[in-house]
Amino acid sequence: MPVAIRSAGLDDVPAILAIERQASSAAHWTSEQYNKLVGSGVVLVAEQAAEEAGQLCGFVCAQAGAGEWEIENVVVAAKFLRRGIADELMRELIQRAESEAASTIVLEVRESNLPARGLYEKHRFREMGRRRSYYKDPSENAILYALRFDR
Ligand SMILES: CC(C)(COP(=O)(O)OP(=O)(O)OC[C@H]1O[C@@H](n2cnc3c(N)ncnc32)[C@H](O)[C@@H]1OP(=O)(O)O)[C@@H](O)C(=O)NCCC(=O)NCCS
Repeated sequence: MPVAIRSAGLDDVPAILAIERQASSAAHWTSEQYNKLVGSGVVLVAEQAAEEAGQLCGFVCAQAGAGEWEIENVVVAAKFLRRGIADELMRELIQRAESEAASTIVLEVRESNLPARGLYEKHRFREMGRRRSYYKDPSENAILYALRFDR
């Protein structure tokens, strides 16, 4: 499906929140936290390029530290799943991190979240360890992943 990937603005935060709230396995943040990340981090949105042009179908967001970026969330709206949209978001995020001289992208994910783990592994993130019972409600291990750039 044709989508355009672009940086989010503050106007996109309500649509980002609406997509995030529908995904129970996503990380859940407040609008203030997203507003802050739009200003100080990297938030990319996937926007439909045909049909209902302009409709947001997914997003990825990350904190961008000096050498290390951390992915905080990646979510695609239910009706757009399995059409390659998360792939496009991840490709663009990785490209930006590389072009801004990041050395690593890290993230953590619930052990049972196989769609997300499949996505990260496809984009060559490697499992670096786990934190036992890191998540609550329900309690679950976190798997830590990292993608290191060779320079
Ligand atoms: C994870 C998520 C973002 C993937 O979005 P998507 O647009 O459907 O993913 P894509 O179609 O781009 O698929 C990319 C790759 O992800 C993996 N993947 C996606 N859905 C999968 C599934 N249901 N089962 C296993 N692997 C899956 C595959 O490796 C896939 O590559 P392939 O199509 O070549 O097999 C989506 O399932 C989602 O929004 N989940 C809920 C939110 C969430 O849990 N986010 C992670 C928070 S840490």
